[in-house]
Amino acid sequence: MRTPLIAGNWKMNGSTALIQAFGDAFTASKLPNDIDVVVIPPFPYLEAARSAFQNTPLQLGAQTLNPQHSGAHTGEISGRMLKEFDVAYVLVGHSERRQLYKEGDEQVFDRLVAALDVGITPILCVGETLEERDAGSTMDVVLRQVGYAMARLEPAQRLKVVIAYEPVWAIGTGRTATPEQAQEVMAGIRTYQAGFDKMLAEQLKLLYGGSMNANNAAELLAQPDIDGGLVGGASLKTDDFYAICQSAG
Ligand code: G3H
Repeated sequence: MRTPLIAGNWKMNGSTALIQAFGDAFTASKLPNDIDVVVIPPFPYLEAARSAFQNTPLQLGAQTLNPQHSGAHTGEISGRMLKEFDVAYVLVGHSERRQLYKEGDEQVFDRLVAALDVGITPILCVGETLEERDAGSTMDVVLRQVGYAMARLEPAQRLKVVIAYEPVWAIGTGRTATPEQAQEVMAGIRTYQAGFDKMLAEQLKLLYGGSMNANNAAELLAQPDIDGGLVGGASLKTDDFYAICQSAG
């Protein structure tokens, strides 16, 4: 019912050679038909990726966008620009943006709206730190982040948002959440949404992110409320990323 989605966030990694390697590998390979696969490279590689992925099922994503469509914002990129490069998805609220660049819930929401305005699917990232988990406030933190954004959107817009649950302590650490831990939070997000709108809750696509790799993907993706993955490190190797995609099919 919910099409699985695997998104590879390259963060500030990659090269034109890696773009080409993905274009070559995924042309030759047979990805499952019934999944969506997105590669999210740094901005300078979008044009090369658009061209290299032309004959592949790979879709393009971006790592952030400015809330404005144009103007005096030196160094920034707008959703309108991303749209010109066939960007279909954009990350908003990634924990690295929240922590390193001090993006709060309000800024995250503005970016979410900017993406929806230009018809790009936002992937809203949420997740707790280790201190928050240890303090027993995981669900409070996650539902605050989800609620801040979703409650302010029109019902029709909510249907266009994908949510990625990424426990901060699991990102880039090799310490994955157990399938049970991930499922518990995902189920909590879905139940919370069902409180407002049952249809939305059923359709809402939920991704897990945090040290997902070729070995643990199948077990995570088998959980009833996990519809896909937001993959960092393991999305930089064609074989690993391919294996994760296979687990989702
Ligand atoms: O956006 C991706 C996530 O931050 C996960 O990164 O798979 O390297 O832990 P990771």
